[in-house]
Amino acid sequence: MLVKIHATTVTRADCATREANRRSGLFAGLLSRLVFGIRRPKQRILGSEFAGAIEAVGAAVSEFAVGDRVFGSTGLRFGAHAEFTCIRESALIAHMPARASFEQAAAVCDGGLNTLWCYRLADLRKGQTVLVYGASGAIGTAGVQLAKYFGADVTAVCSTRNVETVKALGADRVIDYAQQDFTRNGETYDVIFDAVGKHSFSRCKGSLKRGGSYLATDGFRNLMLTLWTSRIGDKKVIFRIPPRYTQEDVRFLKELVEAGKYRPVIDRTYPLEQVVEAARYVETERKTGNVVLTVVDDRET
Ligand SMILES: NC(=O)c1ccc[n+]([C@@H]2O[C@H](COP(=O)([O-])OP(=O)(O)OC[C@H]3O[C@@H](n4cnc5c(N)ncnc54)[C@H](OP(=O)(O)O)[C@@H]3O)[C@@H](O)[C@H]2O)c1
Repeated sequence: MLVKIHATTVTRADCATREANRRSGLFAGLLSRLVFGIRRPKQRILGSEFAGAIEAVGAAVSEFAVGDRVFGSTGLRFGAHAEFTCIRESALIAHMPARASFEQAAAVCDGGLNTLWCYRLADLRKGQTVLVYGASGAIGTAGVQLAKYFGADVTAVCSTRNVETVKALGADRVIDYAQQDFTRNGETYDVIFDAVGKHSFSRCKGSLKRGGSYLATDGFRNLMLTLWTSRIGDKKVIFRIPPRYTQEDVRFLKELVEAGKYRPVIDRTYPLEQVVEAARYVETERKTGNVVLTVVDDRET
């Protein structure tokens, strides 16, 4: 199917791929270059999330028609920082949530899919206690909302400037990391979701209940720790890459958006032409939620 893209996003994955995970150390950088390109990214057009309208379909397509409003992710194939992309009917694509704008729909998948993947690995269940560290990022804002949806008791950790935003997402309590170190307040949790990759198992192990899990989103050391803790000790590190997302997940997120149970947080919106400025902002690692690129200005159509 050929999709005319109206909006896309700049994610941490776009920036990490372009710079070959330079900030994550030598090993991560080398591995990144082997996967994504030795001298420069093999895929010259980054961007994976998109929202737009179907422009043309192949003869075998049955679920979508020309003109349908769709959203989804091209995953590691990238190519969404563009006016058009081609995508299979069976890929990560669904009809847009009713009443969502292209900008909102474009920002659903990055945090939403990754959080679903992580919570599934941890088998998150109703009644469990979850601490979301870095609750203000793309994954963190999804992490708070989806944990509430799954019936968990949610403690969110973020900086002073994001406390109100994170409270509004439904966290049961919010800890401002500038005021309090959650590892020293005596509380323990079933799951600690390090949604921004800035904490570590060794530092927060004492805040996990027996049998609890430290859910990581980043960091090669966490792959080793996943293996190690699966054999030794009663507290686990859970980190698996690459994540496996399904079209069912995209449809599930669409339904949550329609039911008002999940809303992507949008920090800034740039026109596609300002993709460099947008990427520079994402690289500060300080965005709140998502950064959107407008490809078609729908106010003008
Ligand atoms: N495994 C995967 O497949 C996958 C996929 C996508 C992303 N990731 C990784 O997941 C991580 C999160 O991505 P993201 O896009 O959600 O991040 P993000 O949106 O860039 O996170 C930025 C947010 O984190 C907060 N933050 C920054 N430093 C912090 C710290 N030391 N402690 C607590 N909060 C901090 C910032 O607010 P303040 O500075 O005000 O606190 C900001 O709101 C990244 O490392 C990314 O590479 C992994």
